[in-house]
Amino acid sequence: GECGACTVLVDGRPINACIALAATLDGSSVVTVEGLATHEGALDRLQVAFLAFVAAQCGYCAPGMLAAATGVLDAGSQGRDEIERGLAGNYCRCTGYKHILEAVEHVAVGNCETGDCGDCGNRGRTKHIASEASVLRVTGQPGYIADSLDSEMLHGAFVRVACSRAAIKSIDATAAEAHAGVVKVLTGADLLREGSIPRFGSQVDDEPILAVTETKYEGEPVAAVVAESEHIARAAAALVRVDYEELPPIIDRAAALSSPPLHGPGIGGGNLYGESNVMGEWLFESGDMEEAKAASTVIVEDVYRAPFAHHFAMELPGCIARPEGAGVVVESPVQHPFALRRALATMLELPESDVRVKATPIGGSFGSKGYPKLEPVTAALALELGASISVQLTAEEAFLYAQREASDIWMRTGFDDDGVIQFHEVEADFLIGAYTDISPRVVSKAGLHAVTPYRTKARKVRARALFTSTPSTTAFRGFGATHTVFALESQLDVGAERLGLDPVELRLRNVLDRGDEIYGDRPADGNWSELVATTADAIGWSTPKKAGHGRGLAVGLKSCVPATKSSARVVLHRDLRVSLHVGTTEMGQGTHDTLRSFVAGLLHVDVTQVMVADPDTDTVPFDALTASSRSLVHMGNAVEAACHSVLEQLRDAVPQSTLPGEPPRGDPSELDIHDDLLSTWHALGGEEIVGEGIFQAPVDESHFLGGPAPFYE
Ligand code: FES
Repeated sequence: GECGACTVLVDGRPINACIALAATLDGSSVVTVEGLATHEGALDRLQVAFLAFVAAQCGYCAPGMLAAATGVLDAGSQGRDEIERGLAGNYCRCTGYKHILEAVEHVAVGNCETGDCGDCGNRGRTKHIASEASVLRVTGQPGYIADSLDSEMLHGAFVRVACSRAAIKSIDATAAEAHAGVVKVLTGADLLREGSIPRFGSQVDDEPILAVTETKYEGEPVAAVVAESEHIARAAAALVRVDYEELPPIIDRAAALSSPPLHGPGIGGGNLYGESNVMGEWLFESGDMEEAKAASTVIVEDVYRAPFAHHFAMELPGCIARPEGAGVVVESPVQHPFALRRALATMLELPESDVRVKATPIGGSFGSKGYPKLEPVTAALALELGASISVQLTAEEAFLYAQREASDIWMRTGFDDDGVIQFHEVEADFLIGAYTDISPRVVSKAGLHAVTPYRTKARKVRARALFTSTPSTTAFRGFGATHTVFALESQLDVGAERLGLDPVELRLRNVLDRGDEIYGDRPADGNWSELVATTADAIGWSTPKKAGHGRGLAVGLKSCVPATKSSARVVLHRDLRVSLHVGTTEMGQGTHDTLRSFVAGLLHVDVTQVMVADPDTDTVPFDALTASSRSLVHMGNAVEAACHSVLEQLRDAVPQSTLPGEPPRGDPSELDIHDDLLSTWHALGGEEIVGEGIFQAPVDESHFLGGPAPFYE
């Protein structure tokens, strides 16, 4: 009854299906999203408006939102206030509601018959591109992980300890194992391999699949109950008795720096594990600090703190694992299926080819579903019991699953009389939680680019990752940049005030421009001062503010992940349809649709003829990850290369004389794939044409991050 995603219409009235007893609906009409379309195959005008206004991104909230909106419209609501009130019980985590409200208002206010008539002033923001994936989202059809459950599966639930840190004395599962429907209760002791609990990670294999002797954050699983249903598994998990002793928590910077190490030695190899709670430390220095300090007349110094945060996605974390052949198949709404395959293969000591990851559509992620979390323990349970096992978390458990790092950033900045930045000194401590996850990359990159958008004569930046007894953190949106941008831009605002300068003017005097050198990375690749000026204009910077209103402008910079690879396969079928095989996952960002449009443009076919295959490590070629805003550039280039390969094969195989219209022999991108060309190809014995393409971002082993930033954002 919390999120509204299950809203249906009962006798025309929106209700939450999850809290309605089915028996009470006897004799009522129940309309779900499947019932909204007015006749076979046609979309309802609200569904069309949702497409036109891009009101469904990941699509997880869309069925409930559409049902609720239908109820609002059927009640005769027209004004924005009434629409907002009508949708107040429906959460969306992707759109910020703006597009949804615009879509509903478009239909309500304009009395729009079609959903994208464009006749009223409130026009749709795109002509809808008949995207297969988008249509699925507004018709409730994507196969999310929770749609993949079947009656043959077993279900897992975890036993958790409710304190920040605990030494486990004993676990008594007698009552749970006696519960009807329980198949097995497994503790860490049952899953040891050569005396050690299997551990996983994306950078360091330090996270145990179940805690054995000590829990290092509140809620860390100590046992798994496997049962015939999720309900039974959860009920039985509550019967497991854990005898434990509370240990001193480590939940802030001071405690992290003064407490004995959370982890013992021997975990994590050659880093600082076992010596302190400093997981890693990165230093960045340039310029003559003494000279820069001597030239400074205004010095701003402060500390900026940000708490842990969880970016909640409407689709709760879940996964399914089953043994297959000599290995395991894992289905999961994971952003990076190939990275997950590698982590699972390492942990399970299996060849990568014996681990198959099928990435299901993602109902929102924001970074939380990037790296291995639930999958390792689920895969281990499936292999241990030789059964197909589903683990689906609750909303409460989702908050234990991944966090954004908390940060504590001290910054001192010196300006001269003209507002020119002379130096920055930065000590940025990031609290990363109990296990490493991807934090060495997050924290080191945050340090590298802590002061990047501006010229500076001298810098001294120290970034540290500190262990705390809290849920482990991961790469949420912004990858560490959000924390340092907050600190740096606050410094600039205070500096502007002290100098008596307009904050925009101060930024214009310092911001880098195309070609300017960037410490430790590729030069600036945009006209950033122009962007600052344009943005200031766009928000009416020089016009008076309305009473009671504030206004702010900040510059944020993040570099795209370096040195990664994408590969794509394009299959041109005999019927002129095209299959695109890519490892890029779709979480509402629209990359699949954009890649389809690339293929359509390059092969001169209609976009509706291009189908994107589901990301599956057994059937699509390798892609490093779907993150860092890299997919359009990296995978886009791989797709282009694959399309060119298809065109080259056609060009080289089909004798020019047989072609009507005499297409050029040179640039394959000029080649027009049309019926005659294909008939000639097929008459010559040609079958499906398969093109492969690869894009590799530059690798430079001397570069701190393994290669220069492919681009800046
Ligand atoms: Fe609403 Fe993703 S589109 S939650």
